[in-house]
Amino acid sequence: MNVLVILAVVAALIGLRFVKPGMLVWLAAWWVGCYVALRYGFSTPVPVSVIKLYMGIVTLSLTAYALADSERWAQVRDPLTAFMTERRYQAWLVVVALLIPALFAVRIYAQMTSDPQAPSFARTVHPAPPDSITVHDTEYPLGTQDNPYRHLENDDPEAFAGRVVNGRQIYYENCFYCHGDLMAGDGMFIHGLNPIPTSFQDPGTIPMLREAFLFWRIAKGAPGLPEEGGPWQSAMPAWEQFLTEEEMWNVILFLYEFTDSKPRAVEELH
Ligand code: HEC
Repeated sequence: MNVLVILAVVAALIGLRFVKPGMLVWLAAWWVGCYVALRYGFSTPVPVSVIKLYMGIVTLSLTAYALADSERWAQVRDPLTAFMTERRYQAWLVVVALLIPALFAVRIYAQMTSDPQAPSFARTVHPAPPDSITVHDTEYPLGTQDNPYRHLENDDPEAFAGRVVNGRQIYYENCFYCHGDLMAGDGMFIHGLNPIPTSFQDPGTIPMLREAFLFWRIAKGAPGLPEEGGPWQSAMPAWEQFLTEEEMWNVILFLYEFTDSKPRAVEELH
């Protein structure tokens, strides 16, 4: 409670009793007093929706109070009627008639030009992948899936090197615009992106991720992200639309080679 504010409101209302203003001023004073008490009288901020609700109740109560007695009602109605019909108030009437829409316009303008606020919840950079995905009619169980060409590293180093070269070519044809020449997440396109691509050079990314995870992210891109991958729209394309499965596995080999890291094995997950 902000005792000072509440006391000030009460004092103002008591003070007004001695001035003996008209009924209209009384009602307005109560309305404003209630608003000030609600808006500033509490140290924890009251949500706008709650203030609106209470002010609705206050408005209804004050109207009911004014209408309940014909003499009181006359005191509200007569000055209003006079203001609207008598010639001497005409200039003021025009001012009020213009002021009301003008205030609305100012309010709407202020709302439309206010800076967008970032949502208060954070984005999960590495959300949990689904159990399995289907890419070009093949189902991949992500929990157990490995890079089908990884074994070549030992079995046929030449074929493996060929795949890495192919992966490099795919990377520099498709990915470096966003992920950067050196995979630092600083490609030429990133100025317009939010979120920006994470740096693959960061030891918290590629070496911590399984190849199947990358396959999921590359094949399904931003549209495949679960909700916690939000709130901002990622620009990562769904590469299954442009690359073959083989090409995606090859570019993954290249990602690990280039960052000089080894994929995280399945067992390490458990
Ligand atoms: C238009 C820009 C753009 C292009 C082109 C692009 N990416 Fe991305 N990528 C992103 C953004 C932005 C993110 C980060 C947001 C997210 O996770 O979706 C991302 C995320 C990723 C991730 C997930 C990284 C992690 O830490 O979870 C992988 C893997 C990836 N990209 C691989 C690729 C590959 C491979 C290519 C090329 C075939 C590519 N990207 C092309 C924008 C792009």
